[in-house]
Amino acid sequence: MIPVIAIDGPTASGKGTVAGRVAEALGFAYLDSGALYRLTALAAIQKGVELNDALTVSHLASSLDVRFSAEQIFLDGEDVSDAIRAEEIGVAASKIATMPTLRAALVDLQHGFLKAPGLVADGRDMGTVIFPQAQLKIFLTASVEARAERRYKQLIGKGFSANMTALLQDLRERDERDTQRAVAPLKPAEGAKVLDTSALTVAEAVAQVLAWYNEASTTK
Ligand code: DC
Repeated sequence: MIPVIAIDGPTASGKGTVAGRVAEALGFAYLDSGALYRLTALAAIQKGVELNDALTVSHLASSLDVRFSAEQIFLDGEDVSDAIRAEEIGVAASKIATMPTLRAALVDLQHGFLKAPGLVADGRDMGTVIFPQAQLKIFLTASVEARAERRYKQLIGKGFSANMTALLQDLRERDERDTQRAVAPLKPAEGAKVLDTSALTVAEAVAQVLAWYNEASTTK
């Protein structure tokens, strides 16, 4: 069976960076599932589709023309790597992610990322729904303050404007929506290892995940 490391957790917990580096260290493929929800949100907004129109949004998701390269993400041939990171796209993604039909429409696309020698999958429901067979499941989290600070730096670094108070509120609302939704809510998978990165550097978090993976692969 092709090995999967599922890394789930709340927004701005550092999942993306940690997951990307773990994938690189192991030579595994990397799935940023949040990007798929963000791409759908961006496509809907660009095409003038109402975000509460579940049927049209879900159709849009199943016909997305996306391409992932090592560093960039293309939608309809256009580089949208930075555009999908805008805070309003994240908020829109979190809203449409509550739709069961949209989640179903994105399942095959996500399974398509599974290739030898292995996959690191990052999201909210990787270990619970999409890759329940994962050899290692991690719930990566951090305090809301640490996450707001990271998101602030990330947004400023990408040339977006950002405001700490608004970000804190935004993260709290997003946590609420992601954990309280009826379908595939954010929660630690059964058997998941919880990693709180509030006081860890990226290198320390990556080292811990790799150590757990070594442990899991030698005991199987
Ligand atoms: O990880 P992110 O911030 O890029 O994700 C954006 C939104 O997409 C997030 O608020 C909820 C949704 N999402 C989801 O519902 N399931 C996933 N596996 C990944 C993201």
